[in-house]
Amino acid sequence: MGLFRKKAKSFYWVTPLETILSDPPAVSAGAGADPNPEYIQQLFLACGVSVVPAGVSVSSSVLMYNFKLPNISQYAKAKKAVEAVSAGIRRKAVFSTDAAEGAHFALAVVRAERATLHFKRAILTYPFAQSKGATACIFGQDVNNKTVTVDLEALPHLLIAGSTGSGKSVLLHTVICSMLLRTLPSRTKFLMIDPKRIELKDYAGLPHLMRPVITDVQEAIKALAEMCALMDRRYMEIQTGRAVDHPRIVIVIDELADLMMVSRKAVEASIVRLAQLGRACGIHLIAATQRPTVNVCTGLIKANMPARIALTMASYRDAGVIEIPGADKLGGKGDALYQGPDHTVPPVRFQTAYISQQDIKRIVSYWQSPDARRPASAGRPSRFSTLVLYHYAHRPDICRVVCAFFVRKNALCPRYAGRGPTGRFHRIERREMKTVVAGAGLEPATLRL
Ligand SMILES: Nc1ncnc2c1ncn2[C@@H]1O[C@H](COP(=O)(O)OP(=O)(O)O)[C@@H](O)[C@H]1O
Ligand SMILES: [Mg+2]
Repeated sequence: MGLFRKKAKSFYWVTPLETILSDPPAVSAGAGADPNPEYIQQLFLACGVSVVPAGVSVSSSVLMYNFKLPNISQYAKAKKAVEAVSAGIRRKAVFSTDAAEGAHFALAVVRAERATLHFKRAILTYPFAQSKGATACIFGQDVNNKTVTVDLEALPHLLIAGSTGSGKSVLLHTVICSMLLRTLPSRTKFLMIDPKRIELKDYAGLPHLMRPVITDVQEAIKALAEMCALMDRRYMEIQTGRAVDHPRIVIVIDELADLMMVSRKAVEASIVRLAQLGRACGIHLIAATQRPTVNVCTGLIKANMPARIALTMASYRDAGVIEIPGADKLGGKGDALYQGPDHTVPPVRFQTAYISQQDIKRIVSYWQSPDARRPASAGRPSRFSTLVLYHYAHRPDICRVVCAFFVRKNALCPRYAGRGPTGRFHRIERREMKTVVAGAGLEPATLRL
């Protein structure tokens, strides 16, 4: 059973995600081998800075120790003391500050025992539910446990760098699968290039693939050149006003270095062209590399792919190449920094979401099944639908109240608006509500439908 189908160009869930994805295990708190804020306070004091602990926020991989300073003039001193504090707690600590908030700063430290952030948990969150469009995807959750949701259209390309085992492939799966939950094969096509031959093999047979996953380097280089030609054709159509509604194309390259080693010139030329002109033609590029050296992430490539993600790097020098401050202090296993296309906005520290191989296979086999070809419910896609699903996943009690209310009033009164974590709701139709309710596995009878 599919839930919501497109009407206009953008749509929301098109897959019955509740049943496709397996339920993540309950979150474990993680044993407390982490330094307490008072100890850190002592370390700062030893460096001559008096700070006052102001709470710790816990995310799946990072602890944010918040501190108050007696006055703003102490910033520089506190920042300088971070090295010594870092040595004292034997962890990499990253200083961050938001000057708008007064004399505060925070210290980001990787947790001793990290909880896995499961894909389903990250998907069923408000920011993703709220995002529109078939190219919206998630990366993971930031240090405040807010889901990092990005629309590829805004990027429009992404360069991912990190050493072997840092979590590049896991992140690629998360990005790909979050899109697959929302987009029909007729709307989004993927071109997957996997010279390593193991990372993307589970997508074999996915109807969204333009062609089988490419594992041969020469073939990959040819395919990139063909993409450039296709882009030119699309461009011509746009210029001559004959533009047809083409599906989007997302090119995923797991290990750019393998291609660059064989034919640096040809690959660089294709990538740069695709990056420069792709946006207008609905072509997006996501490339991962374990070698963010100047031979792979060349100046030209970097200049055309401003949106980047750094995972943990093998060396300080590698971290420098990707040009994201703090990239040398990441903790591995999906601990990451995201630098958006606008470099005046500081990078965001986040933990990538983890999707199991089993769930990837389940998504792929859903798309291969007859269910995926059957028209889904008559329900109109709506931002509200996903919101209700979100509520259902997190607070079924509230969800029931909201559903019942909608059924009676057909609109949510402002009194209720503050109830959810959303603060905002949209109008919804009775017919659509029925679909939502059924889709979320609720019992319509209890909702007086
Ligand atoms: N978000 C994550 N949560 C938990 N473990 C992760 C996460 N990302 C990566 N890992 C672990 O790290 C291993 C290597 O990740 P992978 O994506 O294959 O690295 P890379 O492609 O960079 O070599 C995974 O098999 C997994 O055990
Ligand atoms: Mg990999």
